[in-house]
Amino acid sequence: MEEVKIGFLGFGNVGTGAYKIIRDNGNDIFLSEGVRLKVAKILVRDINKKRNVEVDNSILTDKFEEIVNDPGISIVAEFMGGVEPARDYVVSCLKNKKTVVTANKELIAKHGLELQALAKENGVGLYYEASVAGGIPVIKILAESLQANKIGEIMGIINGTTNYILTKMSEEGRSFSDVLAEAQRLGYAEPDPTADIEGYDAMYKISILSSMAFHKKVDVDKIYREGITQITPEDIEYGRELGFAIRLLAIAKKRNNTIEVRVHPTFIPLDHPLAAVRHSFNAVFLKGDAVGNIMLYGRGAGDLPTGSAIVSDIITACHQKDKHRYISFYNDEEGSAEKIKFND
Ligand code: NDP
Ligand code: HSE
Repeated sequence: MEEVKIGFLGFGNVGTGAYKIIRDNGNDIFLSEGVRLKVAKILVRDINKKRNVEVDNSILTDKFEEIVNDPGISIVAEFMGGVEPARDYVVSCLKNKKTVVTANKELIAKHGLELQALAKENGVGLYYEASVAGGIPVIKILAESLQANKIGEIMGIINGTTNYILTKMSEEGRSFSDVLAEAQRLGYAEPDPTADIEGYDAMYKISILSSMAFHKKVDVDKIYREGITQITPEDIEYGRELGFAIRLLAIAKKRNNTIEVRVHPTFIPLDHPLAAVRHSFNAVFLKGDAVGNIMLYGRGAGDLPTGSAIVSDIITACHQKDKHRYISFYNDEEGSAEKIKFND
């Protein structure tokens, strides 16, 4: 039986979710795959903070060096959030030949390609399934299961916090701030919830998905973004009277070599499948030229759904340890991608 030592960067909602899955499912799932995972060190800001999971305090540290310099740790999972110091730490881990698994969509949207190049250079992996749509395996489906297709359209609800707020405001008549506070307590919201309610989180996620799907870097600053802070209870009520629900949609379309990507609240007919996506659930529609339409649905945020993506990536990394598969983000140098223009 092979024991693989993991280092965690962060131990908040996502980190504790991943920890619980390894603790609770480890013997049943991973042993049958010939791998035993051991969380060897966890980086946090405050080692004395009360955690919502029981953990041996001796594995908590506030010194990144204890993880990056530990030759026994072969995989590092990052769920600290934000670009710095996460980027700096991920770069150091890759340079130290450690595979990185991350839930950090801002980091991947802004620096994914350079981090992937560094991973390749060092013969290690970079995995980021958890960065988009929590527990829904949309990255793997786009990169592997749909690779035969030219993808023409992606549309979906890819932020759980705003969907939770809109659903609760609409169905229970509760206030925006009250439901946001609840989404924070439930572990759905970003460390800074402005990222959710102003649409940045959905923007990072659609940047990742559309860059992968269209093989063209879709910079975050090319994306039209509007959040839900201007939505009033009256908007929701008027919409319902007219037969519509309000949802924050992320939309990416490619037509005749033109790409259009946007995030904004949208009125959706009540009988549309997206109107039935409630609470923190996410849904993603993908349109491929060969396969047609596909809809993926599941939990888009929270400790265990996101932990599921993290731990599954860790297991994949264990299996691919000498031959990591690098998901093709985009290639501006080759083929027709060069000719693609943005519709501003
Ligand atoms: P939390 O705020 O709950 O956790 C962040 C953790 O990182 C904390 O344990 C914190 O330490 C630690 N940390 C932050 N900055 C530092 C630092 N400079 N040095 C050391 N430790 C640090 O965030 P989440 O778990 O909710 O989110 C983390 C990441 O996962 C983000 O990138 C987010 O976008 C992504 N994500 C979140 C999802 C969710 O449902 N919450 C779903 C999918 C992705 P301490 O505990 O001591 O404060
Ligand atoms: N804050 C994010 C959301 C977490 O609400 O969707 C999942 O990425």
